[in-house]
Amino acid sequence: MNDQVKYVLDESRLPEAWYNIAADLPSPPPPVLHPGTGQPVGPDDLAPLFPMQIILQEVSTDRFVAIPEEVRSVYRQWRPTPLFRARRLERHLDTPARIYYKYEGVSPTGSHKPNTAVAQAYYNKAEGAKRLTTETGAGQWGSSLAFAGRVFGLEVDVFMVRVSYEQKPYRRALMETFGARCVPSPSEETNAGRAILAEHPDSTGSLGIAISEAVEAAAPREDTKYSLGSVLNHVLMHQTVIGEEAQQQLEQAEDYPDVLIGCTGGGSNFSGLVNPFIGRALREEASIRVIAVEPAACPSLTKGQYAFDFGDTGHLTPLVKMHTLGSTFVPPPFHAGGLRYHGMAPLVSHLKELGLIEARAYTQTEVFAAGVEFAQVEGIVPAPEANHAVKATIDEAVRCREEGVSQSILFNLCGHGHFDMQAYTDFFAGKLEDHAYSEDEVAMALAGLPTVAA
Ligand SMILES: Cc1ncc(COP(=O)(O)O)c(C=O)c1O
Repeated sequence: MNDQVKYVLDESRLPEAWYNIAADLPSPPPPVLHPGTGQPVGPDDLAPLFPMQIILQEVSTDRFVAIPEEVRSVYRQWRPTPLFRARRLERHLDTPARIYYKYEGVSPTGSHKPNTAVAQAYYNKAEGAKRLTTETGAGQWGSSLAFAGRVFGLEVDVFMVRVSYEQKPYRRALMETFGARCVPSPSEETNAGRAILAEHPDSTGSLGIAISEAVEAAAPREDTKYSLGSVLNHVLMHQTVIGEEAQQQLEQAEDYPDVLIGCTGGGSNFSGLVNPFIGRALREEASIRVIAVEPAACPSLTKGQYAFDFGDTGHLTPLVKMHTLGSTFVPPPFHAGGLRYHGMAPLVSHLKELGLIEARAYTQTEVFAAGVEFAQVEGIVPAPEANHAVKATIDEAVRCREEGVSQSILFNLCGHGHFDMQAYTDFFAGKLEDHAYSEDEVAMALAGLPTVAA
């Protein structure tokens, strides 16, 4: 028996359409509201920021949306991605569980992020944009948009959360290698950045602040659009190639998952894996356990309030209903930079409210311990974000052992950690702290939630 079984799909099995869970939901998620009027936003409100095809995808209720051939032809550089059966991990844990992982680290930038970056760059180029602005946490998203922008001939400006800019210099170098400009956020380049620096000169930054800067840098310029790497419906939909491929690969394995697991920052890699499975369960009136895993230091799904809130700290975005810690909350500087966001995707939040998914939170040191355990048996060093999913998978596999049940577990290994080795070095040196988030700061941030008429 092979130590590790790899399920690969032929290029001809690359999905032809993205899956849109909006088509199968028992009730639609609440609308997105204009911050000024409190009324649902229309396409024209979003047109300064996004190309029309993306806006239409954002509100689409079609079950499938065709993937343009130009996007599929770039996907083919690394897709379909492999699905592994983690037999060595199963043996190591002495579990009767069957553990599978979908590995997105084989993309050009090492994570799932290019799945949407390529699509967004394509639509922007097709509608005449010359330049894109964006934010990035750990730099996975910024480097992916830098790559995609280069492929389609777009200029890319990235506002990178300052703590990650300092912790992960090689991600910045990667963005610059692809020709993008990378600015530490908060910066002096925007009103939003200057306002934060005036009050907190040593601000470590946050995704909420970087989003404000990127939106501000895009809105007034005719040739520039804004691109978001998570949270919005169209981003989650672009990631569903992950779950669609996994379904075909599990058919090869003659198996089907009892438990699905993904880490959640804004919710895109999680949704990309799980939505096709949840959709199928909804259509067949079957049930499937789905677990979203987040950091204990930024626990939007497990500790946040389900309310209308801004997507950014400077309050430039529309209002979305989501699990939020408050848009002004600045999470402590833990290493999973991609999970330092105050809110959760409205669609993921809606699934949680409908009872279709569970959520749990882990501390930084316990997820790194799980990541090291995984790397030592499986030979892949996960990104710090992905370590959250690894930890939950190990816990579920141990539960299977203790309960004596042989379940099938599938998790998304959404990226490798090759640019995060300093975090591993700090972990080995005992320097990683388990930051508790400040309950007072969350209370203060939640007190500032916008008032929305019922
Ligand atoms: C490797 C990796 N995983 C997860 C995330 C979190 O984003 P999302 O929840 O949208 O997948 C990020 C974000 O930067 C990331 O880089």
